[in-house]
Amino acid sequence: MKKIIILQHNGFFTQHLKEYQNIDMSLVCSELENAGYEFEFLEYKHLADYHYKVDDSAIYWTGSHQNISVKHYISDVLTTRFIGRNNLVPALDTVLAHENKGVMGMLAAEKALPFVAQNYHISSVENPSLTKFPFVFKALGGAGSKGVSLIHDRKLLLKSLRTTTFLEASVREMREGVKNRLRKWLNRKKQADYLMQQARFCEQAFIPNLSSDYKVLVFWDKVYVLKRGVREGDFRASGSGQFEVQHTIDSTLAELAMECREKLNTPYCSLDFVTLESGNYQLIEFQTCHFGPYTQISAVCFYQSSNCYKIETSHLPFEVVLSRSFLKYLERA
Ligand SMILES: Nc1ncnc2c1ncn2[C@@H]1O[C@H](COP(=O)(O)OP(=O)(O)O)[C@@H](O)[C@H]1O
Ligand SMILES: [Mg+2]
Repeated sequence: MKKIIILQHNGFFTQHLKEYQNIDMSLVCSELENAGYEFEFLEYKHLADYHYKVDDSAIYWTGSHQNISVKHYISDVLTTRFIGRNNLVPALDTVLAHENKGVMGMLAAEKALPFVAQNYHISSVENPSLTKFPFVFKALGGAGSKGVSLIHDRKLLLKSLRTTTFLEASVREMREGVKNRLRKWLNRKKQADYLMQQARFCEQAFIPNLSSDYKVLVFWDKVYVLKRGVREGDFRASGSGQFEVQHTIDSTLAELAMECREKLNTPYCSLDFVTLESGNYQLIEFQTCHFGPYTQISAVCFYQSSNCYKIETSHLPFEVVLSRSFLKYLERA
């Protein structure tokens, strides 16, 4: 039996209902103990130690973090230690897609997921290359529809580019922006263009006339679904708080979600689906290492082995469902 090494940042593994609220690790530990696994905790900063040697016979289990600096640090450490290795769960590529919708869209194409067509761009406010409207503009990070807007024309595009450039700029980049104005006056346009601040964003095809989307959580072979209504006068559902608990689950959606989980090579995942006019479901977003548990916690039924089961009295805690799916993944044939 492989040893499990649980990675943490200051004791934080992954989110519960609030992004800053850690899941109950004592429940996770009980599940691993009951299954007879040896496990230990390791801080990312120790994984980053110059003398640290990765134990190739162990499984490293990672969550993530929504604090941008911490997220960058985790991505650096995991990329360096696990590129070319296959003992990180969830897999490194999907961990890099957390808080980065650009990586997410490209990865979705690499893995042939049923994802709404999306391009990853970098552009300055002065020189936006996009000319085809409408489309959905997505900043790389954020949740609850923050940074997601519908772009009808060049004016709206410039507004989103300006906001994204400003929000992502470091003090050093802002200083560079001021210097750039000087450079232009001093006839150093080439250098100014080279150093000009840029915004990274996604351009996703707009699916019109949606009144809701589906948040689907997959834990190995168990599927939970929550329907989320679009806000009034808006096209966005995420963060609306208009939840419709599902009393039955469409088997087409559940089977598609399980296929996506398999393609993502992860024990569990969170998938946001929209419905096309054809009736087909398509993904607009996915997460593996860090996602909210509300869909599982509020569910009154789940889908498994072609059946929809009612949850009567004993609702399993999120941590237990998460850990059991992780163990099933380890024990897969
Ligand atoms: N391509 C799209 N077409 C139509 N609506 C979309 C599209 N992408 C996102 N939305 C709407 O915007 C919301 C937020 O988008 P999403 O990418 O899920 O961002 P977040 O990370 O904030 O959840 C979704 O819940 C959905 O209602
Ligand atoms: Mg979403």
